[in-house]
Amino acid sequence: LAQQRLLIKGGKVVNDDLSVVADVYVEDGVVQQVGPDLNPEPPTGLVVLDATNKLVIPGGIDTHTHMQFPFMGSRSKDDFYTGTKAAIAGGTTMIIDFAIPQKGSSLIEAFDIWKSWADPKVCCDYALHVAVTWWSNEVKEEMKSLVQNKGVNSFKMFMAYKDLYMVNDEELYAAFSCCKELGAVAQVHAENGELIAQRKYMIRIFFFFFDDTIAFHFFFFFFYGEPIAASFFFFFFNYWNKDWVFFFFFVMGPPLRPFFFFFCFLMNLLAFFFFFLTVTADAQIFFFFFLEYIIIRTDNCIFFFFFKALGKDDFTKIPNGVNGVEDRFFFFFLKGVHSGKMDENRFVAVTSTNAFFFFFFYPKKGRIFFFFFFDIVIWDPIFFFFFWTHHQANNFNIFEGMVCFFFFFSTVSRGKVFFFFFFFNVTAGEGKYVSRPPFPPYVYKRVRQREQV
Ligand code: URP
Ligand code: ZN
Repeated sequence: LAQQRLLIKGGKVVNDDLSVVADVYVEDGVVQQVGPDLNPEPPTGLVVLDATNKLVIPGGIDTHTHMQFPFMGSRSKDDFYTGTKAAIAGGTTMIIDFAIPQKGSSLIEAFDIWKSWADPKVCCDYALHVAVTWWSNEVKEEMKSLVQNKGVNSFKMFMAYKDLYMVNDEELYAAFSCCKELGAVAQVHAENGELIAQRKYMIRIFFFFFDDTIAFHFFFFFFYGEPIAASFFFFFFNYWNKDWVFFFFFVMGPPLRPFFFFFCFLMNLLAFFFFFLTVTADAQIFFFFFLEYIIIRTDNCIFFFFFKALGKDDFTKIPNGVNGVEDRFFFFFLKGVHSGKMDENRFVAVTSTNAFFFFFFYPKKGRIFFFFFFDIVIWDPIFFFFFWTHHQANNFNIFEGMVCFFFFFSTVSRGKVFFFFFFFNVTAGEGKYVSRPPFPPYVYKRVRQREQV
């Protein structure tokens, strides 16, 4: 099945800007032609896949996962093998994970460690954000080296996890400024770590309501949102479930929200390019604003039951994180497109193409277009099935039991069919590390223009 030359016939090719019925011709994993009635020569050695009446969609990009992450006395249960295999089963062909150094340790060393974990195991392509958990001149130099030599163009700062990863305002400001100099994207886990550490609040108080990760471009309040998939489908009442085995698995940071109307509400906002920001956890103070680029990601970070149970008598000890890397694509299509709230193009934008704009994999991912890698998913919009199983390492899936009114046939990455009708054709280590250049134009063009003005 490792096709050198592949022709996908007659599918509806869906990009973020438009959908057309077309054939797609691929050589060595790269798209060569998109158009009607293609007949590439010679016909020998050409593998043809009929996609009539099916959707041909760019593979999903999940920009926020934590595979085999050492955290809160445990390690997240999906490693780079199980996690990326599950991603493929769910139509995601690339993830971005986080290399997170301890305070006082080297960022480059953390990057190398995470890469050494990932390289032999990844099934889909991946990249790494690097966290800045402390500040010094060495950190600044290391950030420079990561951008110039290791293909990293994004750094993450935590305003939560006091004494572990949290940076103070001065450090945050220094890290922002350094990102700007280097042409990197600054990301923020925007919770109030001081208040959380005081443990006076059963419901934590947040600066940003519905998600933790706001990717800033500093000096302009020019920013992008990255909401977590689970917050669109579940809400706070799960934490009142008397069965603590059940509620453990919904514990994540920031937590689910206490508003019933959020199920449909967030999806509506997403469809209309809005974003919702609150200052208090009970949403007494909130506002909306327009956001052009929003990326739906999962923060996939799952823990074995016994580790979750460490917090049986004290919820703050429950290692936080939920699953989603396998489910994100289905459920956004179901609740977004199938429900009629957004069109298939907006779906592609929020699950794939915006990530390409923002973290800049040009000319590689997020589009079905000439010279891009042929990373696609083929879906049949007329089948339906129940979510009764999954491929992640845990025995609990927050999405279990939901019904999907479409079915997908196949995930193809770099022109190779990795998954077909429940069967995998992928081995550990087949995914590749994707380097990302600095100064992503979709962010920095406007920054430069504003500076000139
Ligand atoms: O609950 C979450 N999100 N766990 C993973 C660690 C983090 O805060 O990103
Ligand atoms: Zn995270």
